[in-house]
Amino acid sequence: MEFVEGKLKEEKWFGETVFPRTLLPFHRCEDGATTLSPSFPEREGGETRLAEAVRANRVWLDEQLSRHGAILFRGFDVRRAEDFQNVVEAFGWEEMDYGIGDATRSKVIDRVYSANEAPPEVLIDFHHEMSNRKEFPSKVIFFCMEPPREGGETSILPSHIIVEKMEEAMPEFVDKLGNVGAIMRLWNPKDYTTKKMFRRTWPQILQTEDKAEAEKRALMKLGCNSVKFLEDGRAEFEYGPLNPIRTFHGGRRAWFLTIVGYSGKPEDDMGLSFADGTPFPNEAFKTYKKIRDENNVNIRWEKGDILLLDNLAVQHARRPGKPPRIILASLCK
Ligand SMILES: [Fe+2]
Repeated sequence: MEFVEGKLKEEKWFGETVFPRTLLPFHRCEDGATTLSPSFPEREGGETRLAEAVRANRVWLDEQLSRHGAILFRGFDVRRAEDFQNVVEAFGWEEMDYGIGDATRSKVIDRVYSANEAPPEVLIDFHHEMSNRKEFPSKVIFFCMEPPREGGETSILPSHIIVEKMEEAMPEFVDKLGNVGAIMRLWNPKDYTTKKMFRRTWPQILQTEDKAEAEKRALMKLGCNSVKFLEDGRAEFEYGPLNPIRTFHGGRRAWFLTIVGYSGKPEDDMGLSFADGTPFPNEAFKTYKKIRDENNVNIRWEKGDILLLDNLAVQHARRPGKPPRIILASLCK
């Protein structure tokens, strides 16, 4: 089976490049005619047709991913967590362990996890997965087992566009990030105190309540510079001086560490300043949010969709929505 290019109503073009690239199933009939087949008969176990196609087109798909940053596979025979696992394996990438990640997730099978289990009405703002960890996945793959009744889109944003447009709009700010660097403080709670909480507690991430041991593990595994335990029970992890903009292979730049936080309000879960102690100008947050809002694409999930993201090139977010919404995720090294 080959793929045929699909067109998504909400897709955007950046120069010559469509975002995301949408791929649909394609069949060649016996008489040589081709048909687009959006559905498949039910299968009993075995490899999915999509997994077969992925296996047969790995090199081409790799090229597509590095060109577009995001590929949406729609209309394929992927129904169950096992089918998804099958497709993930077909790509041939090694699994990335989510052990020290920030989001609440549960294992479904083998290398398939629930996506963030935060209450569905909560926005999870744009970020690169695990970007504040020493090691992070290079690919994130999502699978829609049950689309949300309303809202709940996964939204994606090309990170190099943020860098380019921030540079255009605020060149001095971007220069200062490179020259002076930023200090970033992230706060994780000790317990779940509010329903809105969607980040894991520090004892969950570090697997201990002992502060001395927690500090040791944080410095070793999280890549932060220091840890403080605050009076209200939260742990404060300090990172930097660092530049939120990173350059990856091939010279591609990404706004790798978000400056607006997971909740969209930096003051909720993060503190930022330049490394010389001066605060970020308010204009920087405003401009960043405007660029984010003008350049993202909301993926309205359909049952069976698989969304493959280059985590070094594309940020993702979760829009508030109504259940049911069963999105599964798998992370690759
Ligand atoms: Fe995420």
